Amino acid sequence: MSTHNVWTHKGTFLLAAVGSAVGLGNLWRFPYLTGENGGGAFILIYALTIFAVGIPILIAETMLGRASRRSPIMGMRFLIRTHKTSRAWESIGWLGAAAAFLILSFYSVIAGWAIHYTWQMLTGSLVGADAATIGAGFDALLASPGLLTLYHTLFIIASGLIVGLGIHRGIESGLRIMMPALFVILLVVLGYGIANGDFGAAASFLFTFNLADLSLEGWLQAMGQSFFTLSLGMGAIMAYGAYMSSEASLSRTAFAVAFVDTAVAMVAGLAIFSLVFGAGLDAGAGPGLMFVTLPLAFAEMPFGALIGGVFFILVLGAAISSSISLIEPVAAFLVERFDLTRPQAVFAMVVASWALGLLTVMSFNMWAETSPFHTLFGRSAFDFIELLTNIFMPLGGLLIALFAGWALTHSEAMKEMRTSETWFQVWRFLVRFVAPAAVAFVFLRTIPQVEGYLIPAVGALVIVGAFAAGRTFLAENSQQQ
Ligand code: PHE
Repeated sequence: MSTHNVWTHKGTFLLAAVGSAVGLGNLWRFPYLTGENGGGAFILIYALTIFAVGIPILIAETMLGRASRRSPIMGMRFLIRTHKTSRAWESIGWLGAAAAFLILSFYSVIAGWAIHYTWQMLTGSLVGADAATIGAGFDALLASPGLLTLYHTLFIIASGLIVGLGIHRGIESGLRIMMPALFVILLVVLGYGIANGDFGAAASFLFTFNLADLSLEGWLQAMGQSFFTLSLGMGAIMAYGAYMSSEASLSRTAFAVAFVDTAVAMVAGLAIFSLVFGAGLDAGAGPGLMFVTLPLAFAEMPFGALIGGVFFILVLGAAISSSISLIEPVAAFLVERFDLTRPQAVFAMVVASWALGLLTVMSFNMWAETSPFHTLFGRSAFDFIELLTNIFMPLGGLLIALFAGWALTHSEAMKEMRTSETWFQVWRFLVRFVAPAAVAFVFLRTIPQVEGYLIPAVGALVIVGAFAAGRTFLAENSQQQ
């Protein structure tokens, strides 16, 4: 099956990109990271990155996909050839594939928790339960490697099947109904939170800030989260961009994706923290936050079992539409490069990622605290994989910005953007200078504390890379003109 086809409708890229962007990142990760990092300051960095860096890179990444009409790695090879630039740019594709593989491994484990809660809701086993019971239930889930592995396996198989069938058939129909439905139920939960929780405390926790509250690793996490939530810097958007109709507008689409994605995260955050503060729970509870607070609300709400059941089904839908976008770029590469059939390619990717996911499974039980990982890296395997993706995604995004900003000529980029000269210049300034500087700044800021050796290496790479890139392209552009 050719991967060079185009979505059947002009608007499908938007739908698919929203499906990729909206997921566990908004509902699960955003609230818990915000809670762990003290609230407002975290959101400030997150929001600034979305607007100054995320949107321009979203445009750039879609552009590279649509201009090459290939999977990320092959697409970069193509662009390198046609622009006679350094082979090193292929690292955009490889970094992306590595990040996709790492993210899928833990994403699937967490999405598995939602399978558990869908079941718990629909069977009514949590009706009327109190905070302590629900908390204990969650701890029991994490303590069971068998259950976690079962759910992880189910989720990854479901995702693999959809991609194996071909994403066009898989995505186009489902998303149209699921996304709006998810948003409506989130609003119901928010309404419940406003009526029964402490909305005032939630709003002031999220929207008042003191930058000093943010640890150095918090900066990296906030930036990593804004890349994560927009699915940036790892090839998902590039792979989807390759199927995007030439007519659709890059800028308008990027703004729409960022807007919907941010709105979902904010509503989820407000709803969850209203419940947290209303019930006297701990905002810094970590990865379990959403899975403890929301079942608590559903346990007390009229028709809670039903509403909760539907809610977790929609969470699963949002998670699946994201996880397929993690599989797609790697699978498309395997198809193009090694002539595998689509099902074979998906199988290879999914099995490898599934196996890696077992490390995350064990991070919550057998390997908690005492694992070789803890002794070696001072954190669990799950935290370590997350840290790697927090580095890979911004780094990938940085390289994408530099490539789109410096390697593509004015007319090429303009041909894709087809927009006013003023906005084009603003965008180009953002991807040439602002985005790289912002990413480099956050990497540099985290040098002293995070992972003594890892981050300096990355920081140095970024700087050297940016210099080399700028020089090559300046030289080339001046030759061309
Ligand atoms: N953006 C998705 C989410 O917020 C996660 C994701 C990251 C999906 C990267 C694809 C690529 O849940």
